[in-house]
Amino acid sequence: MQTRLSGKVALIVGGGADGPAKAGEKLSIGNGRATAIACAREGAAVMVADRSLELADQTAAAIRDEGGRAAAVAADVSLEEQCRGAVEATIRAFSALHLMVNNVGIAVGGNLLKTTTAQFDTMLAVNLRGHFLMMRYAVPEIAKAGGGAIVNVSSLAALRSNSQISYEATKSALLGLSRSAAVSHARDNIRVNTILPGLIDSSMVRRLIGDRESAVATRIPLRRQGTPWEIANAIVFLLSDDASYITGTELIVDGGLAAR
Ligand SMILES: NC(=O)c1ccc[n+]([C@@H]2O[C@H](COP(=O)([O-])OP(=O)(O)OC[C@H]3O[C@@H](n4cnc5c(N)ncnc54)[C@H](O)[C@@H]3O)[C@@H](O)[C@H]2O)c1
Repeated sequence: MQTRLSGKVALIVGGGADGPAKAGEKLSIGNGRATAIACAREGAAVMVADRSLELADQTAAAIRDEGGRAAAVAADVSLEEQCRGAVEATIRAFSALHLMVNNVGIAVGGNLLKTTTAQFDTMLAVNLRGHFLMMRYAVPEIAKAGGGAIVNVSSLAALRSNSQISYEATKSALLGLSRSAAVSHARDNIRVNTILPGLIDSSMVRRLIGDRESAVATRIPLRRQGTPWEIANAIVFLLSDDASYITGTELIVDGGLAAR
């Protein structure tokens, strides 16, 4: 069956899920894991990279259980050698690279006076420099394969403040990082876009905050948090040829929150 990402190789960075499963779910799902599984269901061979090899392996195993092609690699995006290693492992496993999703994003610190310099540096290293490094190593390979697409995962926090200065600063900076790469590499037939999720019921949120559904649902025009699958669907769209004339831009997926 021809599917939207048939014949493509996708590298999903931050493709594990590092929190508890939702009640009734066997496997914990976050934006990265849902995206990896959704890419495989659309026919891509998927390399799952995560700082935790165990979490990446769980995602790859879930894909293989469904009959898809997947492998896993350990990569902490704050370490340049491991960013390069993730791209090299993808080429070794699947002989090419066409698509990449930079899903890693952490949140430490608070507002200006509640964020230490060390916390700010960590946020820059993981949420921004990591995306820069992943693109720096992936883009030449994607160009070699004749082109492809990259999606960087930002946040509504790029546009709205909730007193998390380093999260908001890095998520805003990602918009510029993506735009710049998009313009430079359009000539290589590589599209680069950014996705801005709103409030999503993800694995990481359940670990850090717990169940926030009743606390936030009434603020959201669609009256509920989004699911990681709804983020994954939007990312698959941006990776696919359905988005063939879309580059250097942002897609908000937030149930109408930003419009309010
Ligand atoms: N969940 C939300 O409500 C929400 C809202 C807006 C934006 N986002 C963004 O979506 C992305 C995914 O968030 P999520 O909550 O779905 O998490 P997720 O469940 O997709 O988990 C993220 C994964 O990243 C991995 N990771 C963390 N640090 C890493 C590092 N240094 N190197 C490599 N891997 C690392 C973790 O082990 C984890 O498996 C993040 O960029 C986040 O900022 C989430």
